Amino acid sequence: MTARRVVIDTDPGIDDAIAIFLALGAAELDVVGLTTVYGNCAVDVATRNALVLLEVAERGEVPVAMGAAAPVATEYRGAIPHIHGVDGLGDSGLLTEPAGRPVDLTAAEFLCRHAPGATVLALGPLTNLALALRLRPDLDTLVRQVVVMGGNALVPGNATPAAEANMVNDPEAADVVFGARWPVTMVGLDVTQRVVMDGPRIDAVTGGDAPTTRLLRGAISFYRRFLERVSGVDGIYLHDPTAAAYLLDPGLFRTERWPVRVETQGFSRGKTWPNLGGTDDEAPAAWQGRPLLDVCVDVDAAGVVDLVSRRLG
Ligand code: RIB
Ligand code: CA
Repeated sequence: MTARRVVIDTDPGIDDAIAIFLALGAAELDVVGLTTVYGNCAVDVATRNALVLLEVAERGEVPVAMGAAAPVATEYRGAIPHIHGVDGLGDSGLLTEPAGRPVDLTAAEFLCRHAPGATVLALGPLTNLALALRLRPDLDTLVRQVVVMGGNALVPGNATPAAEANMVNDPEAADVVFGARWPVTMVGLDVTQRVVMDGPRIDAVTGGDAPTTRLLRGAISFYRRFLERVSGVDGIYLHDPTAAAYLLDPGLFRTERWPVRVETQGFSRGKTWPNLGGTDDEAPAAWQGRPLLDVCVDVDAAGVVDLVSRRLG
């Protein structure tokens, strides 16, 4: 079996770190590079973290390309240190400065050069993908698939009542990405908020002494404490690892084929609106001519937690 070439676009980010280690350890995947973007933290912090994660995983040969510092049309909303820590990986004190440096390509340039024929696993705001399309307008006819952790089709948002974090960070970019010709799978809150790794499972998965496990133990404990504080639940949402799991076992998911628009105006900015059909207005203009996405609407949540646990264990 030939491994699937994957470029991971990421804002690491604690759940990004889990997804990145999962992908690096998967024989089915050939991670050809990490492209970084602002989101959970500023892009310079995300880039430092991407380099650190690769070095801790003894995969320092995988290139990192630094990407956008802000959305295509607005200011960066800012980091979320209360969720991911000031250092973006849980402020465990374990992070050392990376030995390596990013390559001399922007993330958009790296995507233009390496995404053709490959799959893009997008775990942050979609700014880099939109900029890559601007640089190379035929890129969307060359990329094998884009799997996006982001959006909320039929459930509320997590960053605002309307919108999911990656989408609300750059709705303009997301609407461009969801309107392009590449095959897109949207792994949104509809499924990721149902994939919770509970406390005992976290303890089991992060109990080892490998460098990657020690880093995850420190990072996850920060995110776990945040979620316990705000929700009273002892566990963590596996948002980004669920998107990575889609690549490893899509049979764990059920999808619907819908065109999706991303709201860019007003208090619902960032909301992903699928056209499910059957409305009075048979062909609403905003969705006319839009490509169909594979939108994840159901998931074997326990199956994803088992897969992630098994692979990380
Ligand atoms: O809404 C969850 C998403 O936003 C995840 O990708 C998380 O890492 C943050 O980027
Ligand atoms: Ca992320």
